[in-house]
Amino acid sequence: MTGRNSRLLLSAIVAGAIVTAGGLGAMASDAEDAVKYRQGVFQGLKWNIGPLAAMAKGEADFDAAEVELRAQRIANLSTTIVEGFPEGSDGVAGSDALPEIWEDKDDFLQKAVALDEAATKLSTAAATLEADQLGPMVGAIGQTCKACHDDYRAE
Ligand code: HEC
Repeated sequence: MTGRNSRLLLSAIVAGAIVTAGGLGAMASDAEDAVKYRQGVFQGLKWNIGPLAAMAKGEADFDAAEVELRAQRIANLSTTIVEGFPEGSDGVAGSDALPEIWEDKDDFLQKAVALDEAATKLSTAAATLEADQLGPMVGAIGQTCKACHDDYRAE
């Protein structure tokens, strides 16, 4: 092999190694970013269901405008859950997501849709809601959180 050819070969190998390392690096950080993103979405859900639960329990005064706002936010956030679980974002350290999510994406999506429906029902009803109707509707939202956690979130 001439000196020129071996230098070309070497630079091709080095370039290949850089592309490979760059590719793997991007994948790892994409997966970690996805975990941060989805955990942020879930923290947002928890944050917004808090005032609803407090009102339902009588720990806070019933406020129809607040109910509508919180329920709308929950509905909006629910539509952003599934994109936080792209292929390759399973098995990341610090994540409680179970591998079954990626084995049954349709069912996982259905469970997110169930949350959207329960929250939309409450936001739509909020303006004319009687205070004693709040508990069952917030409970129904909470049931959709639990249904997904039971199947797809590690304890
Ligand atoms: C479609 C499924 C699904 C629904 C619906 C769902 N969750 Fe979760 N939730 C998960 C999964 C999966 C995780 C674990 C995510 C991870 O760690 O990668 C999680 C994690 C969480 C966490 C922990 C986040 C963190 O910082 O680690 C909270 C809090 C949470 N969910 C609250 C809620 C609330 C409140 C609702 C309902 C309003 C809800 N979730 C609805 C699947 C769901």
